Amino acid sequence: TPARFTLDPAFGIGAVHPRLYGSFVEHLGRCVYTGIYEPGHPQADTDGLRRDVLELIRELGVTTVRYPGGNFVSGYRWEDSVGPREERPVRLDLAWKSTETNEFGLGEFMDFCAKTGMEPMMAVNLGTRGVEDALRLLEYSNHPGGTELSDRRAAHGAKEPYGIKMWCLGNEMDGPWQTGHKTAEEYGRLAAETARAMRMIDPGLELVACGSSASSMPTFGSWEATVLEAAYDQVDHISLHAYYEEIDGDRDSFLASAVDMEHFIESVVATCDHVRARLKEKKRINLSFDEWNVWYQKRPNPHQVEDWQQAPRLLEDVYTVTDAVVFGSLLIALLRHADRVTAASLAQLVNVIAPIMTEPGGPAWRQTTFFPFAQASTYGRGRVLRVDVDSPTYPTARFGDVPLLHATAVMDDESGDITVFAVNRSQTDPLPLEIDLRGVGAHTVAEHLALADSAPEATNTADRPDRVTPRPATGTAVTDGVLHAELEPLSWNMIRLT
Ligand code: AHR
Repeated sequence: TPARFTLDPAFGIGAVHPRLYGSFVEHLGRCVYTGIYEPGHPQADTDGLRRDVLELIRELGVTTVRYPGGNFVSGYRWEDSVGPREERPVRLDLAWKSTETNEFGLGEFMDFCAKTGMEPMMAVNLGTRGVEDALRLLEYSNHPGGTELSDRRAAHGAKEPYGIKMWCLGNEMDGPWQTGHKTAEEYGRLAAETARAMRMIDPGLELVACGSSASSMPTFGSWEATVLEAAYDQVDHISLHAYYEEIDGDRDSFLASAVDMEHFIESVVATCDHVRARLKEKKRINLSFDEWNVWYQKRPNPHQVEDWQQAPRLLEDVYTVTDAVVFGSLLIALLRHADRVTAASLAQLVNVIAPIMTEPGGPAWRQTTFFPFAQASTYGRGRVLRVDVDSPTYPTARFGDVPLLHATAVMDDESGDITVFAVNRSQTDPLPLEIDLRGVGAHTVAEHLALADSAPEATNTADRPDRVTPRPATGTAVTDGVLHAELEPLSWNMIRLT
């Protein structure tokens, strides 16, 4: 039996916010050093940024970039990272038991953003630091001039203020692993007071409060409610973080990871709106899904890493075709909630659980997960249409019966073009798909690209960087207002209709 759905422009979810296609650069492993920054590399520009990596970031279509952490931010001393390089101190990074040279700092990050056209999304340290330091960093970054800190920025070569609009109030403060970990009450007060003070400098900021670091946290749900009760007026977003992996060979459940992600999003929306009702507030809090990905956290690191190394090989997951299909399904989950998920960050950008990999002194290449992101960022712009699938299901141990089809559709209201993103979760069978297009008028198939492989474990590596790429699918056509396609087993698909 085919999977089916109907598209009608009268039934929309919401506009896709460009910030949905954000990513994340943390001082972690080789994300910064030998990832984006490697002076002496044959591809390095005059600032030490790798041109091959900059090119891939542009191709990936990343809109915003969260920085400098992650767990790293909870010990971050931003002033160590600015000014003359030779005077910058070398510090211990407690989060990743590494050594931070501060060779790449705030100014270099802003240059990196300018060169790639990405909007910075800065995090303040609410682990070892607090209100005063957040104000100092904000003044250094955004005040035009005439004060000690803003003049210091100008003296460091940036006469114009950075104008950073979006700020995260700490990172994963609910996690016992976090330096300066806090209870919900402690964090809620601190977030509210930090936000209130930051807005005294710049009322136009957009501020993100920390939600739970996973929906499996024991405090999930009550953490969000307590934090928002304290900080509702002062913040615009609450954060969500989620990572998925195949556990004990249960691939069927892994392929259904987005069921968990959608449930997570809907639970946080409900909590935000519950607090809104209790406080008799008008505005709504939106969601910043500022860490999401596939991450094999349970696997041991294949690289020998001693403590306190500089740029060690950490979290260098190599993604398969299967991972890319799950990854695409996570993107679909975000798009299906575009009305409330108005920012998201793929964690992370280079080398560390990343779509782009590099070798020091060597090449840069695209992982399998690169492709769904690049396609969605290029074509998933406009308004998300409501997609209610009628699909055959398959049994999973974690989520019960799950539809084989996971899909969304985005319409460009100006051109009328529609892009469908769809995943077939079956490991064994092709899935016939029928989309009723009569509500959207005459359309023809411009392109159907599929990411699938007879070897679902296939990966891209330095030796074979193009082993896995999307390929055109055949036979997709519109007849009498109905699109007919066949989705390969275990596949991610993009179908463009004009
Ligand atoms: O992205 C890797 C880490 O995952 C981040 O530093 C932290 O915020 C999360 O636990």
